Amino acid sequence: MKKTHIDDDWADGSEADLPHVPYSPARYTVEEMLERSQHFYTMMNQRRSVRFISPEPVPRAVVENVIRAAGTAPSGAHTEPWTFVVVSDSETKRKIREIVEEEEEINYKQRMGDKWVRDLQRLRTNWVKEYLDVAPYLILVFKQTYGILSSGKKKTHYYNEISVSISCGLLLAALQVRYTPAHTHTHTHACTCTDTRTK
Ligand SMILES: Cc1cc2nc3c(=O)[nH]c(=O)nc-3n(C[C@H](O)[C@H](O)[C@H](O)COP(=O)(O)O)c2cc1C
Repeated sequence: MKKTHIDDDWADGSEADLPHVPYSPARYTVEEMLERSQHFYTMMNQRRSVRFISPEPVPRAVVENVIRAAGTAPSGAHTEPWTFVVVSDSETKRKIREIVEEEEEINYKQRMGDKWVRDLQRLRTNWVKEYLDVAPYLILVFKQTYGILSSGKKKTHYYNEISVSISCGLLLAALQVRYTPAHTHTHTHACTCTDTRTK
Protein backbone atom coordinates (compact mmCIF):
# COMPACT_ATOMS: atom_id res chain seq x y z
CA MET A 1 0.00 0.00 0.00
CA LYS A 2 1.30 3.49 -0.91
CA LYS A 3 2.49 5.48 2.10
CA THR A 4 0.99 8.98 2.35
CA HIS A 5 3.52 11.63 3.26
CA ILE A 6 2.34 14.40 5.52
CA ASP A 7 3.73 16.91 2.98
CA ASP A 8 1.77 15.54 0.02
CA ASP A 9 -0.37 18.29 -1.51
CA TRP A 10 -3.36 15.95 -1.67
CA ALA A 11 -2.73 14.12 1.63
CA ASP A 12 -6.36 14.66 2.69
CA GLY A 13 -7.38 12.25 -0.12
CA SER A 14 -10.15 14.61 -1.24
CA GLU A 15 -9.75 13.59 -4.88
CA ALA A 16 -8.72 9.96 -4.36
CA ASP A 17 -12.18 8.51 -5.06
CA LEU A 18 -13.09 10.63 -8.08
CA PRO A 19 -14.18 8.33 -10.94
CA HIS A 20 -12.37 8.40 -14.28
CA VAL A 21 -14.17 10.39 -16.98
CA PRO A 22 -14.92 8.21 -20.05
CA TYR A 23 -13.19 9.52 -23.18
CA SER A 24 -14.83 9.08 -26.58
CA PRO A 25 -12.86 10.92 -29.26
CA ALA A 26 -14.31 11.40 -32.73
CA ARG A 27 -13.05 8.81 -35.26
CA TYR A 28 -12.08 9.66 -38.83
CA THR A 29 -11.33 7.70 -41.99
CA VAL A 30 -7.78 7.75 -43.40
CA GLU A 31 -8.90 10.25 -46.08
CA GLU A 32 -10.45 12.52 -43.46
CA MET A 33 -7.33 12.32 -41.31
CA LEU A 34 -5.15 13.28 -44.29
CA GLU A 35 -7.41 16.17 -45.24
CA ARG A 36 -7.72 17.49 -41.68
CA SER A 37 -3.98 17.25 -40.99
CA GLN A 38 -3.18 18.98 -44.31
CA HIS A 39 -5.69 21.74 -43.53
CA PHE A 40 -4.28 22.27 -40.04
CA TYR A 41 -0.70 22.40 -41.32
CA THR A 42 -1.65 24.91 -44.06
CA MET A 43 -3.36 27.11 -41.48
CA MET A 44 -0.46 26.96 -39.02
CA ASN A 45 2.09 27.58 -41.77
CA GLN A 46 0.50 31.01 -42.23
CA ARG A 47 1.40 32.06 -38.68
CA ARG A 48 3.98 34.83 -38.60
CA SER A 49 5.57 37.02 -35.95
CA VAL A 50 4.42 40.43 -37.17
CA ARG A 51 5.68 43.63 -35.58
CA PHE A 52 3.31 46.09 -37.26
CA ILE A 53 -0.26 46.01 -36.04
CA SER A 54 -3.66 47.32 -37.07
CA PRO A 55 -5.73 48.86 -34.27
CA GLU A 56 -8.87 47.31 -35.80
CA PRO A 57 -11.02 45.99 -32.93
CA VAL A 58 -11.31 42.26 -32.19
CA PRO A 59 -14.44 40.96 -30.42
CA ARG A 60 -13.67 40.41 -26.75
CA ALA A 61 -15.50 37.04 -26.87
CA VAL A 62 -12.98 35.82 -29.47
CA VAL A 63 -10.09 36.68 -27.16
CA GLU A 64 -11.84 34.86 -24.32
CA ASN A 65 -12.37 31.75 -26.45
CA VAL A 66 -8.72 31.82 -27.51
CA ILE A 67 -7.70 31.88 -23.84
CA ARG A 68 -10.14 29.05 -23.06
CA ALA A 69 -8.40 27.03 -25.79
CA ALA A 70 -5.00 27.80 -24.21
CA GLY A 71 -6.39 26.58 -20.88
CA THR A 72 -7.06 23.13 -22.35
CA ALA A 73 -3.29 22.48 -22.36
CA PRO A 74 -1.88 19.55 -20.43
CA SER A 75 0.01 20.50 -17.26
CA GLY A 76 2.28 18.79 -14.75
CA ALA A 77 0.03 16.88 -12.28
CA HIS A 78 -2.90 18.83 -13.77
CA THR A 79 -1.91 21.95 -11.83
CA GLU A 80 -2.79 24.38 -14.68
CA PRO A 81 -0.12 26.83 -13.52
CA TRP A 82 -1.03 29.76 -15.80
CA THR A 83 -2.71 33.12 -15.47
CA PHE A 84 -3.83 35.05 -18.56
CA VAL A 85 -4.43 38.76 -18.22
CA VAL A 86 -6.14 40.64 -21.05
CA VAL A 87 -5.38 44.34 -21.31
CA SER A 88 -7.31 46.73 -23.56
CA ASP A 89 -7.13 49.94 -21.55
CA SER A 90 -4.85 52.45 -23.34
CA GLU A 91 -3.20 53.78 -20.20
CA THR A 92 -2.32 50.28 -18.94
CA LYS A 93 -1.02 49.30 -22.38
CA ARG A 94 1.17 52.41 -22.37
CA LYS A 95 2.56 51.56 -18.92
CA ILE A 96 3.26 47.98 -20.05
CA ARG A 97 5.04 49.33 -23.12
CA GLU A 98 7.19 51.57 -20.91
CA ILE A 99 8.20 48.66 -18.63
CA VAL A 100 8.89 46.34 -21.58
CA GLU A 101 10.92 48.94 -23.48
CA GLU A 102 12.93 49.87 -20.39
CA GLU A 103 13.86 46.22 -19.76
CA GLU A 104 14.40 45.49 -23.44
CA GLU A 105 16.79 48.44 -23.80
CA ILE A 106 18.86 46.93 -20.97
CA ASN A 107 18.71 43.57 -22.82
CA TYR A 108 20.08 45.11 -26.00
CA LYS A 109 22.67 47.39 -24.37
CA GLN A 110 23.93 45.36 -21.39
CA ARG A 111 22.19 42.16 -20.32
CA MET A 112 22.22 39.80 -23.29
CA GLY A 113 25.67 40.55 -24.72
CA ASP A 114 27.16 41.24 -28.17
CA LYS A 115 26.49 37.80 -29.62
CA TRP A 116 22.73 38.05 -28.93
CA VAL A 117 22.59 41.55 -30.42
CA ARG A 118 24.50 40.37 -33.52
CA ASP A 119 22.29 37.26 -33.88
CA LEU A 120 19.15 39.43 -33.79
CA GLN A 121 20.43 41.96 -36.36
CA ARG A 122 18.94 40.05 -39.28
CA LEU A 123 15.46 40.37 -37.69
CA ARG A 124 15.93 44.17 -37.47
CA THR A 125 14.29 44.31 -34.04
CA ASN A 126 15.16 46.74 -31.27
CA TRP A 127 13.74 47.78 -27.90
CA VAL A 128 11.06 50.09 -29.34
CA LYS A 129 7.67 48.27 -29.34
CA GLU A 130 5.04 50.61 -30.83
CA TYR A 131 2.71 47.66 -31.33
CA LEU A 132 2.18 47.37 -27.58
CA ASP A 133 0.16 50.61 -27.78
CA VAL A 134 -1.53 49.86 -31.10
CA ALA A 135 -2.79 46.28 -30.55
CA PRO A 136 -6.43 46.23 -29.43
CA TYR A 137 -5.54 43.65 -26.81
CA LEU A 138 -2.42 42.48 -25.04
CA ILE A 139 -2.57 39.00 -23.53
CA LEU A 140 -0.08 38.75 -20.69
CA VAL A 141 0.78 35.20 -19.68
CA PHE A 142 2.10 34.55 -16.19
CA LYS A 143 3.44 31.27 -14.86
CA GLN A 144 2.46 30.33 -11.32
CA THR A 145 5.57 28.75 -9.82
CA TYR A 146 3.38 27.43 -6.99
CA GLY A 147 -0.28 27.53 -5.92
CA ILE A 148 -2.06 27.85 -2.58
CA LEU A 149 -4.19 25.00 -1.21
CA SER A 150 -7.43 25.65 0.68
CA SER A 151 -5.43 24.83 3.84
CA GLY A 152 -3.20 27.82 3.06
CA LYS A 153 -0.26 25.51 2.32
CA LYS A 154 1.87 25.96 -0.81
CA LYS A 155 0.94 23.59 -3.64
CA THR A 156 3.77 22.34 -5.85
CA HIS A 157 3.39 23.23 -9.53
CA TYR A 158 5.40 20.54 -11.26
CA TYR A 159 6.96 21.45 -14.63
CA ASN A 160 5.27 24.86 -14.45
CA GLU A 161 7.40 26.49 -17.14
CA ILE A 162 6.93 23.65 -19.62
CA SER A 163 3.18 23.58 -18.92
CA VAL A 164 2.82 27.33 -19.50
CA SER A 165 4.92 27.10 -22.69
CA ILE A 166 2.59 24.40 -24.05
CA SER A 167 -0.42 26.54 -23.22
CA CYS A 168 1.19 29.49 -25.06
CA GLY A 169 1.59 27.21 -28.09
CA LEU A 170 -2.11 26.40 -27.98
CA LEU A 171 -2.88 30.11 -27.57
CA LEU A 172 -0.92 30.91 -30.74
CA ALA A 173 -2.62 28.06 -32.60
CA ALA A 174 -6.05 29.28 -31.45
CA LEU A 175 -5.24 32.81 -32.64
CA GLN A 176 -4.24 31.36 -36.00
CA VAL A 177 -7.59 29.63 -36.44
CA ARG A 178 -9.04 33.12 -36.74
CA TYR A 179 -6.10 34.20 -38.94
CA THR A 180 -5.22 36.78 -36.33
CA PRO A 181 -1.51 37.57 -36.57
CA ALA A 182 0.11 37.38 -33.15
CA HIS A 183 3.54 38.28 -31.93
CA THR A 184 5.36 36.44 -29.17
CA HIS A 185 7.68 38.53 -27.10
CA THR A 186 9.55 37.01 -24.20
CA HIS A 187 10.23 39.50 -21.51
CA THR A 188 13.08 38.07 -19.47
CA HIS A 189 12.44 40.20 -16.42
CA ALA A 190 8.76 40.94 -16.63
CA CYS A 191 6.65 38.33 -18.43
CA THR A 192 5.94 36.66 -21.77
CA CYS A 193 3.45 38.64 -23.81
CA THR A 194 1.47 37.70 -26.86
CA ASP A 195 -0.08 40.58 -28.74
CA THR A 196 -3.22 40.05 -30.79
CA ARG A 197 -3.70 42.20 -33.79
CA THR A 198 -5.78 42.20 -36.92
CA LYS A 199 -4.51 42.09 -40.48
C1 LIG B 1 10.38 32.06 -26.94
C2 LIG B 1 10.34 33.12 -28.02
C3 LIG B 1 10.79 34.38 -27.72
C4 LIG B 1 10.74 35.39 -28.67
N1 LIG B 1 11.12 36.64 -28.30
C5 LIG B 1 11.01 37.65 -29.20
C6 LIG B 1 11.32 38.98 -28.79
O1 LIG B 1 11.70 39.24 -27.63
N2 LIG B 1 11.21 39.99 -29.70
C7 LIG B 1 10.77 39.74 -30.98
O2 LIG B 1 10.68 40.69 -31.77
N3 LIG B 1 10.48 38.48 -31.40
C8 LIG B 1 10.56 37.44 -30.53
N4 LIG B 1 10.22 36.15 -30.93
C9 LIG B 1 9.78 35.88 -32.32
C10 LIG B 1 10.86 35.21 -33.17
O3 LIG B 1 11.84 36.14 -33.59
C11 LIG B 1 10.18 34.57 -34.39
O4 LIG B 1 9.34 33.53 -33.92
C12 LIG B 1 11.17 33.99 -35.38
O5 LIG B 1 11.90 35.02 -35.99
C13 LIG B 1 10.48 33.16 -36.49
O6 LIG B 1 9.51 33.94 -37.17
P1 LIG B 1 7.99 33.48 -37.25
O7 LIG B 1 7.44 33.54 -35.84
O8 LIG B 1 7.30 34.49 -38.16
O9 LIG B 1 7.94 32.08 -37.78
C14 LIG B 1 10.26 35.12 -30.00
C15 LIG B 1 9.83 33.83 -30.28
C16 LIG B 1 9.85 32.85 -29.30
C17 LIG B 1 9.33 31.46 -29.62
